[in-house]
Amino acid sequence: MTTAPLTAPPATRSDADWWRQAAVYQIYPRSFADGNGDGIGDLRGIISRIPYLAELGVDAVWLSPFYPSALADGGYDVDHYRDVDPTIGTLEEFDEMVTALHGVGIKLIVDVVPNHSSDRHEWFREALSAPKGSPARERYIFRDGRGEHGEEPPADWTSIFSGPAWTRVPDGQWYLHSFATEQPDFNWKHPEVHEDFLRTLRFWSDRGVDGFRIDVAHGLSKDLGEVLPSSAELKAMPKDGTHPLWDRDDVHEIYAEWRELFDQYEPPRIAVAEAWVETPERRAKYASPEGLGQAFNFDLMEADFDAGHFRDIVADNLAQSAVTGSSTTWVFSNHDGVRHATRYGLPPRAGRPVKQGAQWVAAGGPEDGIDRELGLRRARAATMLELALPGSAYLYQGEELGLHEVAEIPDEQRQDPAFWRTTAGDRGFDGLGRDGCRVPLPWTRSGSSFGFGEGGAHLPQPAWFADFSVEAEDGAAGSTLEMYREALRLRGELQGEESLEWDEALSGGDVLAFERPGGWLSVTNFGAQPVALPVGEVLLASGELEAAADGTSQLPGATTVWLRRSEA
Ligand code: NOJ
Ligand code: CA
Repeated sequence: MTTAPLTAPPATRSDADWWRQAAVYQIYPRSFADGNGDGIGDLRGIISRIPYLAELGVDAVWLSPFYPSALADGGYDVDHYRDVDPTIGTLEEFDEMVTALHGVGIKLIVDVVPNHSSDRHEWFREALSAPKGSPARERYIFRDGRGEHGEEPPADWTSIFSGPAWTRVPDGQWYLHSFATEQPDFNWKHPEVHEDFLRTLRFWSDRGVDGFRIDVAHGLSKDLGEVLPSSAELKAMPKDGTHPLWDRDDVHEIYAEWRELFDQYEPPRIAVAEAWVETPERRAKYASPEGLGQAFNFDLMEADFDAGHFRDIVADNLAQSAVTGSSTTWVFSNHDGVRHATRYGLPPRAGRPVKQGAQWVAAGGPEDGIDRELGLRRARAATMLELALPGSAYLYQGEELGLHEVAEIPDEQRQDPAFWRTTAGDRGFDGLGRDGCRVPLPWTRSGSSFGFGEGGAHLPQPAWFADFSVEAEDGAAGSTLEMYREALRLRGELQGEESLEWDEALSGGDVLAFERPGGWLSVTNFGAQPVALPVGEVLLASGELEAAADGTSQLPGATTVWLRRSEA
């Protein structure tokens, strides 16, 4: 790999716009770094690794839930929204972490989980101890059952994690949970639910948090009459803003309230929606400046490694963000999906659709036929393409090490409710679930939990983690960590206006090339055969460039190169 010094001036942008082209690093706190040796990652661990994040060169951290929780769903089952889980730390440590992050110029986004609480939340406990029909039950969604004695659920709905979406309580009523049993859905028609979340957003904003990631943003508003539709009827209903459960138009009234609060801060607090919706047009509503302002776009995460498909996704999403005035987002890996280094090495399957919903494809065991080397090569190329795009890039802890999904976790050690609730192949969250991307990070080649902490790790780490550890990759020429560091450094220097021009002369077949302002050219060869290296000064490549027989340089398959063209 080659690097060259740069003379381009750093991008200028107003502080309020910091998020528009930010590289955001997602920390899944229980698996990042363990400061006290109990096997669970914590705030002390994060604080100790802030120099690592600064050296990596990310602009912001998105912290997955760290609130008190019984971990029925990895912390997305929240007991108290305005506190820190005692196994993770204290509010004082949280403040210390914010100050330390800000001290090195890194912003902080925290996760907010407004669709459901945990079943240990004081409101839910109050609802259970209050009689049927009492106001305490109104904050959630309770219904009588069907059948002579109400012994059948109010409707035959399935939860997103499989299994029934309704659970019966001792006095015979049922409550709705779109996810695990321990995650009762809030009733957003209740004014106290609104008030409480405004209080939560203010609480963290006042503590210096820069923004929020909104979990299941498309699910809060529900319109359930007395007679509930069947699951087949629900499926047949269009998701055009009128569906009883998902992506209702009136959900944006909630986000308009939140925006008013966000804009009272300087700079305004930002928010990014996790919204699984049908079309880019519907996603754009979440990204509206009158609402949350930005929305995750999971299209690349679901795409096969294919030049044409990538191009369509990039073009569609840039066009969409031009309409809303937001900036687009790019994601290849997160805590819910199979890591992209593994996903891109999955064997081709007959009849696999181009849009494969790949994040839920299970990575199998050692005999699974996954080509991990090819997967990592493609993942590195895809990441460099991503980091050259306008918009913000959301990176998931460990992807900077080229980590693969861990398949070898014994069933009895798995934690994901999606694994435990699934009966073979009946739905999306299938196979091995999501624990394989949540295994504690390897910081050192050896030692207790590969340097994750002084004790063990709450999910077992495989022996091959040694070669993917920070220690193994730090300073090693050509390592994935060094590629990310250099790519992020260059991105920071080259980042200018949010525009992109396809290079039609270079693009075609397996090659996708585009130019950013200032002569920054990104060329990806998605194919297997090398192609001629375009003219320009090589800034960085995701793999070794090759020499052809005639001595000219070539861009090998599954590789991205960044070049600088001299401006005419
Ligand atoms: C989306 C989160 O990313 C996922 O981890 C969680 O299980 C569900 N929402 C439910 O909160
Ligand atoms: Ca700990």
